[in-house]
Amino acid sequence: MIKVLFVCLGNICRSPMAQFIFNYLVDQAGLGDKFEIDSAGTERYNEMVHAGIHHGTRSIFKQHKIPFTEHYARVIRKTDYDHFDYILIMEESNREDVLDIVGQDTDNKIHLLLEYSENLRGIRDPWYTGNFEETYEDVLEGCRSFLNRLIRNGKV
Ligand code: 4NP
Repeated sequence: MIKVLFVCLGNICRSPMAQFIFNYLVDQAGLGDKFEIDSAGTERYNEMVHAGIHHGTRSIFKQHKIPFTEHYARVIRKTDYDHFDYILIMEESNREDVLDIVGQDTDNKIHLLLEYSENLRGIRDPWYTGNFEETYEDVLEGCRSFLNRLIRNGKV
């Protein structure tokens, strides 16, 4: 079982988008039973108010026919670091926020999602741009590249 945790700031836009897109890709590849997939954020407000997935991310799921269930924002915990094999962050600023909570990345589990693509960069943040479609393109590229890397390296 490969355990993957996607992490952004609020856990309402980008990381749930990545969670359900990656879930869809692995299901399509017939690898659904080989993965545990979840998402989390680094700031507490959305957990406090029990926030669900942002309507912009929901629209993307509907538009692109990506199955999803409800997900309520939660903050990453130290136990998540021990439990998950890959902690995939959306942008470089997430790294420090994750490290503040989990301590050191002793097992080299924290990676930028787009680290696996040929064009290393952060995922564009729709909270500020309002453009969920370009975020979808970034996330899809990152998820595809990550899955391809796992397959190429014989991890699944
Ligand atoms: P996310 O988007 O990190 O992709 O879930 C954001 C959600 C909330 C805020 C920023 C980004 N915020 O500043 O409250």
